[in-house]
Amino acid sequence: MNAALFDSAAATLPSLCFEKPPACGLILGSGWGQALQTGEPLLRRPYAEIPGLGASTVVGHTGELILFERHGLRIAAFVGRRHWYEGAGWGPVVLPVELLRRMGVRTLLITNAAGGISPSLKPGDLMAIRDHINPAGINPLIGPVMPGWGPRFPDQSRIYNAGLVDLLRKAAYDTEASFTDGVYAFATGPCYETPAEIRAYAGMGADAVGMSTVPEAIVANAAGLRVAGLSCITNMAAGISGPHLSHDEVLAQTRKTAPAMSALLDAFLARLSASQ
Ligand code: HPA
Repeated sequence: MNAALFDSAAATLPSLCFEKPPACGLILGSGWGQALQTGEPLLRRPYAEIPGLGASTVVGHTGELILFERHGLRIAAFVGRRHWYEGAGWGPVVLPVELLRRMGVRTLLITNAAGGISPSLKPGDLMAIRDHINPAGINPLIGPVMPGWGPRFPDQSRIYNAGLVDLLRKAAYDTEASFTDGVYAFATGPCYETPAEIRAYAGMGADAVGMSTVPEAIVANAAGLRVAGLSCITNMAAGISGPHLSHDEVLAQTRKTAPAMSALLDAFLARLSASQ
C-alpha cells in the first residue's frame, strides 16, 4: 500500500472535509447511488479529481465523494466504488476507507449488490451483513503495516458491529423493507461464480455472494471503525435460479428496489442520529 498516495489524495480535499468529523461514512456500491438522499450537499468531488482513486470503470458506479448533512448528522459518502477486479491494485479500493478515517469517521456503512445463496433470500431483499467469508485468498492488509490500520494481526471476531445491525433492523421495520441478516462471501470477480462454487460457498455458511465490501470492511475493522454492511439481493446466485447472470439484470433489480433501498438508508441515518 502506498502511504504517499494516501497523503496526496487527502491533500486535494478541502479543509471542510476535516473540520468536523462526519458522524457516518458511506461507501455505496452498484445501484446504491440512486438511493441516496443528500439534499443540497456541502461538497461534491468526482473521483477523477482525487489522486489514487480515479474514475470507476464499472457501469452503475457514479464515482463521487459527497459531503452532506442529513437528520442533523454530517455524512461523507463515497458514491461508487473501485473493485479489485479492475486491476488497479488495492489503492483505489481502500482509499475511501483511509480518507474517511483521516476525516475522523468512526462509523462506516458499506453497501453492495449481491447474489442470494440462501433459499430464504429473494431478489429485492435487503440483507445486513452479520459476518463474512473471504475464500478469495487475497487481503488488502498483506504488505507493510500501515500507520492507523492497527496491529499486524487484527482481530476479526466482530467485524460487523452488532449495534449497527440492530439499527439497520429497526430502520427496516420503520420502512417495511424486506430485510434479514446473513453471511456474505467475497469473490474477486469479474466472472460470476460457477454453480459448483456457489454450492461450496453454501456449504461454508454463506447466505450471499459478491465482488466487494470485504476488502473495505477488513481495513476499516483493522483501523478500529464501527462497520456495517448492507447488501441488495439482485439475483439468485449461479445455479440456483435463472439460466444466466448479467450485470444488466443486477442493475435492473437495483432500479426496482431503489425506493426500498433509499427509505432504509435514510431511516438508518435517522436512527443513527437518534442514537447519538
Ligand atoms: N455474484 C457475485 N456478485 C454479484 C452477484 C452474484 O451473483 N450479484 C450481484 N453481485
